Amino acid sequence: MSRAADLIAFNEATSAEAFASRFGNPDDATARLLSSVVGHVHELIKEFRPTQEQWRKVIDFLTEVGHASDERRQEWVLFSDLVGASALVEEINSRRPAGATPNTIRGPFFRTDTPERPLGSSISLDGIGEPLLVEGRVEDLDGLPIPTAEIITWQANAEGYYENQQPDLQPEFNLRGLFRADQDGRFHYRTVRPAGYGVPGDGPVGRLLAQAGYPLHRPAHLHFMVRAPGFETVTTHIFDASDPRLGEDALFGVRPELVQSFEQTAVDGQARYSLKVRFVMVRARPGRAR
Ligand code: BEZ
Ligand code: FE
Repeated sequence: MSRAADLIAFNEATSAEAFASRFGNPDDATARLLSSVVGHVHELIKEFRPTQEQWRKVIDFLTEVGHASDERRQEWVLFSDLVGASALVEEINSRRPAGATPNTIRGPFFRTDTPERPLGSSISLDGIGEPLLVEGRVEDLDGLPIPTAEIITWQANAEGYYENQQPDLQPEFNLRGLFRADQDGRFHYRTVRPAGYGVPGDGPVGRLLAQAGYPLHRPAHLHFMVRAPGFETVTTHIFDASDPRLGEDALFGVRPELVQSFEQTAVDGQARYSLKVRFVMVRARPGRAR
């Protein structure tokens, strides 16, 4: 029998099946994925019934997102982050046993070339902001220390900007550092309290969401990536418990175990705030991305 006999005729009721019926091998993984994605798109079109002009606007928006993406800015990643898709993929793939530190999205401001700094040093290269002492411990699920774990941190300044957003105003690598935990899995460094900030709203994704009244705010936080041989890498945030907008994170990163108080203190006569963090890592599991 000819292939044409297996093809389903296209009309409003059969559109998704008509598309799927054109694959030579419908069980091929790509064919199944595409049939499913296209099926959902057809369902959406049938639900919203856009005019040709409205559909053209959707295509124009997607084109703009593509044009706004280059090696310095990834508007598609921002799109995925802001609609919760990145958080959902993270949630599905990085589910960890109770007690382990959860993963959250990495975001666009991480730098792979973050310089290593000695324990106790300051990552605030311009000294602007309220001093904060961060002390932490990296341990396994049994509470045993993970010596020499590598901790990379990056954060916004007291005005809510990352160093790579303000190359003319902040010193390079300001508020970034790579630290190596000691034999007890402990590390400490000095910094300044970060402020919450607005996710970049100057591109097509931010503009679209802001127009629709969607909040683009992120509550104050520090970012961490913790690595140790034989353990799953932890990429996470610590959020400031006193931020009044903690419940409004545009990127769905806030988890109760990632919210910490920045305690007022006078330790060492310098730091005005202190923060204690604990990262609990799980052993690398076969078949899972590190
Ligand atoms: C961030 O927290 O650095 C961030 C993450 C995703 C999009 C924008 C900012
Ligand atoms: Fe951030």
